[in-house]
Parts: sequence; C-alpha cells; structure tokens
Amino acid sequence: MQSGMATAIEWLDGKLRIIDQSQLPREEVFVDLDNYRDVVLAIKEMKVRGAPAIGVAAAYGIALGASGIKARNKDDFLAQLNQVIGVFATSRPTAVNLFEAINRMRKAAKGDGVAEIKNSLINEAKRIHQEEVTATKQLSQLGAELIKDGFSILTHCNAGPLATAGYGTALGVIKAAKEQGKKVSVFVTETRPLLQGARLTTWELMQEGIPVTLITDSMAGYFMRQKKIDCVIVGADRIAANGDVANKIGTYTLAVLAKENKIPFYVAAPTSTIDLSLSSGDKIPIEERSPEEVTHIQGVPIAPQGTRAANPAFDITPHSYITAIITEKGIIREPYIKGLKGIGSRFS
Ligand code: MRU
Repeated sequence: MQSGMATAIEWLDGKLRIIDQSQLPREEVFVDLDNYRDVVLAIKEMKVRGAPAIGVAAAYGIALGASGIKARNKDDFLAQLNQVIGVFATSRPTAVNLFEAINRMRKAAKGDGVAEIKNSLINEAKRIHQEEVTATKQLSQLGAELIKDGFSILTHCNAGPLATAGYGTALGVIKAAKEQGKKVSVFVTETRPLLQGARLTTWELMQEGIPVTLITDSMAGYFMRQKKIDCVIVGADRIAANGDVANKIGTYTLAVLAKENKIPFYVAAPTSTIDLSLSSGDKIPIEERSPEEVTHIQGVPIAPQGTRAANPAFDITPHSYITAIITEKGIIREPYIKGLKGIGSRFS
C-alpha cells in the first residue's frame, strides 16, 4: 500500500499481520496471526478479502501451518501439510487466486528435509506476494492509458490495495491515471450486502485525494443515463478462458447498463485471476454466503425476523459486455479466448 496508508498484509517475524477489513473504516485494527486456522477464519469472515489478497494470505497461512507441524519424518510432514492445504481450499470458492496460490505452495514443498521445505514455503509465499505487488502496479500503469483527462469513473466493490495486498486493480488504474496528471473522479457503488464500496473504496480513494461520490447500487443506471459516467472499471475474482468474468454480485447489472448506455466497461485483474481450465463463466463456482448478511446490516436487522434471503456473493458477466480486460501482460479485447490463451495465467 501507499506510504501513509495501512498495510493490508505483512509477514512479520514469522507471523501474518493483517488489517481487519471487516472493521474498516470505523477502526484500523491490526491482527497478528500465528496459527493457520486463524488465517482460514480471517479469509472466511472476510477480514482479508479481495481475490489477490486472499491468495497472498492463504500462501502465508500455508507457510504458517507448515512451520507449526511437528513431524516424525518427511512423509509424515507432507501428509500433515496436505491437511493444512485442504483446510485453505474450503475457505472461499470463487476467487481462483486462492487455488493458484495453493498450487504454487504445493509445488514449492520440496527439499531434502523438513526444515528446508518449511523455509522454501515461506520464501514462496513472499514471492507470490511480491509478484502481486509488481503485477498490480504494471496493470495499473497499462490501464491508465484508457483513462482520459477529466473522466468520471464508476467502480463497484473494492479493488484497491486492501483487496490486492499490492497497488490495486480497478482502483490501481484510477490511481495511476491520477499519477499521470489526469483529473479523475469516481462514483462508488455502496456494494450491498457487505458494503465494500461504501466502507473500503471510499476510504482508500479519499486517502489518495481522489474525488469520490458514493451512490447506492440501484443509482448506477440513473447516473449513466445522465451522462455522468465515462467508463466503468471493476476487478475480478475469476476470468474464464472465454473472457467471462466472475466479480462481486451486481457487476453483471452494471455491465448490462453500461452497454445499453454505450459506456466502456473495463475489467482489471492480474493474470493470477485467469482460469484457463474453465471454458466459460457458467463453470465458475459461485459462493453462497449467509442470508444474515442480507437481512442485517452490521448486525442490525433490517427485515422482519424469519425473512428468507438469498446471498450469492458473485455473478458472471459474459465477455460480450466487456470492452477490455486489463492485465499486467497487456490489454486484451475480443476475441478473449485467443488473447487470454496467449498470455496465460501467471501461476499455471
Ligand atoms: O467478497 P469480496 O469482497 O472478497 O469480493 C471482492 C471482489 O469482488 C473484488 O472486486 C475482486 O476480488 C477483485 S479485487 C482486486
């Protein structure tokens, strides 16, 4: 993150320090995690969230789990490591960065002895983190070329440093445009049910000195029709081989509205978010979270007791609605199937 801003994820003396995103912006609470089960819980409870940040936290969490293993021999150690990894794999299903990080950590579990493997896992987690920092910086600089001076940009959910443990994706592009000397302003959707837009994106943009207007999710069409929005930029949790994108619930609605109003719709993501093993978005698993996140806001009930609620955390935007996908390896346009195959996922 930027100087003066809180660091989302940090490896400190064999512990994982995170800022608890569920408490923001009310309080900046840092938590030191020295047990891998607490890292899994932090991911499930969305204290750490955002696709790249989930991947980075899981990598450090696996390294932490490995460090705590007391094994009779190498085989015993690897069997226990497998169990640790299995727990991480059940934490959140949609962001592919989690599974990419798990694959990387599995491959890194090599060495003559247990101590060597433990070390190698810590180093691999640090490498994964560093790669996300570099990739998000690079994609932001590339994507900023699409932003013109004076642009008013709509973004959804939170795709800034908090979500990436790096520079940001959608917010990274906006920050980089500002750094290039362009005047930009941002409409932020509040992002029900967990309000990542209202709580986190406004917080990050205000710290960057970028003008922000917070709107409810249902206001987006109104402002598009008023010609108040020049482009939409969002992040992604998983991009299928054909360019279909899974991102925070509500993204699809924004993409349809953008197309209807002839507004470019950009997706910004590091290549660790690309999943070439899935031919289309229909195959991406969508996380279903607790109905309580819909019937309550920050613990306060907003619906009659006993109300049935649905809570899919993500939706799929078909590639035909996407103007371009911004990655650290280049800006991809239709036919996505060709472009994405050309750059591939960084992890596979
Ligand atoms: O459920 P969340 O808050 O983890 O969802 C986050 C998003 O949908 C982000 O837009 C996505 O992870 C991109 S983050 C750079």
